[in-house]
Amino acid sequence: MAEMRIPFFKPSIDDSDIEAVAESLRSGWLTSGPNVKELERELAEYCGATYVNAVNSATAALHLALCAWDIGPGDEVIAPVYTFSATANVVIHTGATPVLVDVRDSDANIDPEAIERAITPRTKVIIPVDFAGEPCQMDAILDIAQRHRLKVLTDAAHSVGSDYRGKPVGSMGDATAFSFYATKNMTTGEGGALATNDQALSDRARVLTLHGITKDGWNRYAAGGTWRYDIAEFGFKDNLTDLAASLGRRQLKRLDGFNERRAQVVQRYFANLRDEEHVILPGFDEANHRAWHLFMIRIKNEQSPVQRDEVIDQLAARGIQTSVHFIPLHYFTAYQKLERWQKGDFPVAERIFEGAISLPLFPDMTDDEVDEVCHALREILHPA
Ligand SMILES: Cc1ncc(COP(=O)(O)O)c(C=O)c1O
Repeated sequence: MAEMRIPFFKPSIDDSDIEAVAESLRSGWLTSGPNVKELERELAEYCGATYVNAVNSATAALHLALCAWDIGPGDEVIAPVYTFSATANVVIHTGATPVLVDVRDSDANIDPEAIERAITPRTKVIIPVDFAGEPCQMDAILDIAQRHRLKVLTDAAHSVGSDYRGKPVGSMGDATAFSFYATKNMTTGEGGALATNDQALSDRARVLTLHGITKDGWNRYAAGGTWRYDIAEFGFKDNLTDLAASLGRRQLKRLDGFNERRAQVVQRYFANLRDEEHVILPGFDEANHRAWHLFMIRIKNEQSPVQRDEVIDQLAARGIQTSVHFIPLHYFTAYQKLERWQKGDFPVAERIFEGAISLPLFPDMTDDEVDEVCHALREILHPA
């Protein structure tokens, strides 16, 4: 394979990030401690949530919220079929049943009408996923949730820094899960957070995060801490380290700048590709101020002389790395084994997937790199 001159993604790590982690190392406090507490406070302020629990992934945040609500066998949780598998895997891990629904053609976000149709007396939670950073239709989803007395747990792995009609993602619904994975809009390497306005949820999730210990682990070793602790219930090991949190605090300070540059890159993609007849550009709602996590175009396979898979290969041959978000969940072996879904069940998600290509997008991407990707794409789509 050709060397990837333009990667799909590159984390933006500067000297201040490195110094923050070095400082954390020098402090001698490596696991969850003061940096975790500060990250939680700063993120809560940033996203308008009353409580934030920093954890080691968005997957953990989603799982902890479901467990803290006692979601389990007999319960149903509605999630979009067009997402990363973590969104629905965690439902399986609780023993509950994931009920997959289709998405909207315009933005690949969960379709509120499909949610409504999927509700049964067993439904307990809706997990909307803010695909590529675009907030879901929260007014409609919260209205459905209120009418049917359901919880809303937003998978905001892509949308840290997004606003939905002036409300920050993290401030709406019952809980929100953020991801700080290496490719995300801000990173701690691996990491995530659960944001909520519900103290009971935050408190129970905190106990479940660390084995079920009733006192924060780091309190045990603080001045005045005691060796005594209780295991109140059977918890997990999902805490974030202070090393990671020290990076997260720096990245959070830089997040608005990252998202601004991402938006500039996206604008340049739009300007470059506006007239390209063989692609569909991503839809978005102007009423939102969104963070762009992905720039996903769709190749119009039925009219384009070159199909999606071939476009990806030819871009790679020119040193341009891309990705596909997402393979619909019902295509995966583990989901097929559940014998609940078949190809054809989710026509919109399936159609989107057929043409989907996520183009390179990261804060340090230059205008020349954007132009090169677009130039290559146009040449590939219009062979001589
Ligand atoms: C939509 C979505 N949800 C959840 C996750 C899981 O995030 P994490 O790796 O932090 O667990 C991802 C990660 O790629 C994602 O894209």
